[in-house]
Amino acid sequence: MPDIEKHIAEIWSLYGRHQLGRTFDLPELDDWTWDIPQVGPGIDVLGEVAGLRVLDLGAGVGRHAARLAALGADVTAVDASPTQYQRALARYPDTPGLRLVCADAVDHLREAAPYDLVYSVSGIPFLDPHRLLPALAAGLTPGGRLVFSALHTNSHGDGPSDSVTARPEILRLPGTDTEHRMPMWVLEPRLWEGLLVDHGLVVESVTTIDSPQAGQPLSYRLYAARRPESMLDPSRRCARITAPVEAGP
Ligand SMILES: C[S@@+](CC[C@H](N)C(=O)[O-])C[C@H]1O[C@@H](n2cnc3c(N)ncnc32)[C@H](O)[C@@H]1O
Repeated sequence: MPDIEKHIAEIWSLYGRHQLGRTFDLPELDDWTWDIPQVGPGIDVLGEVAGLRVLDLGAGVGRHAARLAALGADVTAVDASPTQYQRALARYPDTPGLRLVCADAVDHLREAAPYDLVYSVSGIPFLDPHRLLPALAAGLTPGGRLVFSALHTNSHGDGPSDSVTARPEILRLPGTDTEHRMPMWVLEPRLWEGLLVDHGLVVESVTTIDSPQAGQPLSYRLYAARRPESMLDPSRRCARITAPVEAGP
């Protein structure tokens, strides 16, 4: 893993250690959300999951993965941070259909059999897309789907970058004033779409998820893409579907 991504995983390990030391932890999911509670699409975006081989990329404490396992999916939840992994292990020991893995997602994708569905609730912006996407595209079965949420505009109103580079965002340890500067790839939707297409995937939709609070600029995008049945299609650059995409500025 390159140094910048090692640094990111280390900050998540500090976060996980902090959370392990607290008596409070997150409640079970009431509704499935893609990071901002009570707005945006829910679990339906994933379609029928029973019987699918599914990867949760950057699974954290594993709540989403546990939900899908309960619906009959064969879920692997991968997280690079040992303390985040520990949180998931403490919370979901011996859960049928759920396999918890502590590893870099790229290393895991290179070694594992391909998945029918890879999803990520705000985990993907912590990996360099140029390193992740080749492994991710190859890690999907033909026809397999990728669905992920990604920060678009932070709560200070800083919009996405117009180049594929990481920039610092603030991660505050819950219940404290301690803040860490966390590198993240916060990219314009056209850049995410271009990266997906360049790696042979067909973009199916880009959905805007805005904070419901008045005056709060926080905004995410939910990306859904599919690996074509054949990755050899030379016209794949024309395969981008534009009609259902509702990418905001
Ligand atoms: C914002 S948290 C999301 C956690 C979880 N998906 C959720 O919604 O609760 C991002 C997670 O990505 C993990 N992560 C960061 N870099 C990673 C990598 N290279 N491979 C796998 N996981 C990674 C972090 O450890 C962290 O737990």
